[in-house]
Amino acid sequence: MKILVSAAEVAPYAKVGGLADMTAALPKAWSAAGHDVIVLLPLYGTIDTALYGLRKTDHVIGVPFGGWTEYASLWEGTLPDSEVPVYFLDSHEYYGRQGIYGYHEGFQDNDRRFMFLCRATFEVAKALGFKPDVIHAHDYHTAMCMPMLHVHYKTDPHFDGTAGVFTIHNMAYQGMFDPQRVLEFGEFGMKEFYPGSWFEHESVVNAMKAGILFADKVTTVSPTYAQEIRWTPEGMGLQGALQARGGDLIGVLNGIDRTEWDPSTDEYLTVPYDLATIEKKEINKQALLTEFGIDVSDKSRDLPLVGMVTRLTEQKGISLLHEALEPFIASGQMRLVMLGSGEKRFEDFFRHLAEQYPQRVLLGVGYNNALSHRIQGASDFYLMPSKFEPCGLTQMYALTYGAIPIVRATGGLADTVQQYDPITFTGNGIRFNRYTVDDCSAAIGEALRLYKREPHWSHLRRNAMSVDHSAVRSAEQYIDVFTWAQELHAQH
Ligand code: ADP
Ligand code: GLC
Repeated sequence: MKILVSAAEVAPYAKVGGLADMTAALPKAWSAAGHDVIVLLPLYGTIDTALYGLRKTDHVIGVPFGGWTEYASLWEGTLPDSEVPVYFLDSHEYYGRQGIYGYHEGFQDNDRRFMFLCRATFEVAKALGFKPDVIHAHDYHTAMCMPMLHVHYKTDPHFDGTAGVFTIHNMAYQGMFDPQRVLEFGEFGMKEFYPGSWFEHESVVNAMKAGILFADKVTTVSPTYAQEIRWTPEGMGLQGALQARGGDLIGVLNGIDRTEWDPSTDEYLTVPYDLATIEKKEINKQALLTEFGIDVSDKSRDLPLVGMVTRLTEQKGISLLHEALEPFIASGQMRLVMLGSGEKRFEDFFRHLAEQYPQRVLLGVGYNNALSHRIQGASDFYLMPSKFEPCGLTQMYALTYGAIPIVRATGGLADTVQQYDPITFTGNGIRFNRYTVDDCSAAIGEALRLYKREPHWSHLRRNAMSVDHSAVRSAEQYIDVFTWAQELHAQH
C-alpha cells in the first residue's frame, strides 16, 4: 500500500510529545512490512540538517494558497534505522524560526503555517510522482488535509482512489481558527461557514472537527479513549461530531518503537538487561543516583525509585502530586526522579521539592532524550496519574523496562496497565480510578508496599516485561483501517 503521512511532529527531527514517536514508529513498521510510505513535515528552524544528513532537493513546490500561489523548497532524508523517505517542507517565512508551535499560546500564525502544510501535502505528492492510496493526517495540524482531499483534489486524477484517514492523538488541541483567515487560505470560501457546518464549531473554524467529518475513517490512539471521547466530556465539545461518525471512529492502540526502546539493546543505559538479567537493572539505578550526586554507599538506605518523564501540563495529573507525593518523600519511603518541562507553576513545584529533599528528589527540567531512557532503565516504578490520557507511550516504555506503572485508569492507561492481583499473581501495575489525591496516594502506597516483596515483586516485573508492546501490531491494524477507508472512499 502507498501511504503518505503528513504531520507537524516526527521523531527524532521535531518532537514535543508522543505524536512524534508514532509518526516515526508507524512508517518504519509499514516500510518493514513491505509498504511504500513517505513522510512529510515542516523544516523547522530547530532541525539540524547537517546532523541528520538532510539534502535539499531540486523540487520547488507551488502551493495554491488563498487565491495565489506560494512556493516552498523540499528537503529529503531517511528516517533513522529505516528506509523510509522523509520530506521536509522548507518555507523560511512559516517554519524558519525556533520552535514547533511557539510557547504557551503558540505562534500567532499557526493557522496559516499548518494550512500551508496541509495544502502542500498534495502538491508534494504530485511533484514526487507519489500516488498515495491513503493520506494519513495527524491531529489538528494536518486535519485540514481531509477537507482538501474531499473538496480540491476529488477530481484530480493523481488522487484518484486516495482515501483520507485522520488520527486523533489528543482532543485537547483542536485548532480553533478565525474563519475569515483559514477558509481563505484553504480556498474553501465563507459559504462553507455557517452554524453546524462541517467547519464550524462555537462560531470559529475547528480544524479537528473538519478532520473528523471529512475523513474516510477516523482513528484515535486507544480503544478506551475512542469510547471516552464519544460519550464523556473527554470529547471536549466534539462528542456530537464523533458520534456522527459511528463505526468509522476506531481505536487503534499505540505501540512502541522497539528499535529505540529495548532495554537489552539500549545504548543510553549503563548496562543493558532483559527479563533474564533483570538484576542488572540495579546497576542502572545506582548509576543514575550517582549521576545526580546521591550517596549510594550505604546499601541499607535503598529506597524505591519512582520515575516520571512528562510534559508538565494539567493533562498529566501533576496537580494531584502537590499533595499526593510529598508525604511519601518526606517520610523517606521513596525517591522521585522527574524529567519534565512545561507550565512554570509545575516546574516550580518540582524545583521546590528538589530543594527541600535533595537526597530524595532527582530533577531534570527540560527535554533530554538520553536521560529519559536512563530513567526508564533505572526506575522501580513509573508514575502516570493522568487526568486524561489518549494513549500514553511512557507507561509502555516503563513496562518494557520493568518499571512498574502506577497509573490512573483512563484512556490508553486503562488499556495497557492491569491491576496486580496478589492472589492470582496477575496484572502488571497499580491502577486507581477517581481523579483524587486520596486515590492517587492510596495507589502510590500500595505500590511501595510491593517493592521487593516476594513473590509479588518478581511476578509484577515478569508480567510487565513479558508483553510485547511493539508498534508493529498497531501498524498492522492501521493497514486494515486504510483498507476499509479505501473501500468506503470507492463507494462515494
Ligand atoms: P504525550 O504525547 O501526551 O506527551 P506520551 O506518553 O504519548 O505523552 O509521549 C511522550 C513522549 O515524549 C515520550 O516519548 C516521552 O519519553 C517523551 N518526553 C516527554 N517529556 C520529555 C522530556 N522532558 N525529555 C525527554 N523526553 C520526553
Ligand atoms: C498525545 C497523547 C498521548 C499519546 C500521544 C501519541 O500526545 O497525549 O496520550 O500517547 O499523543 O499518540
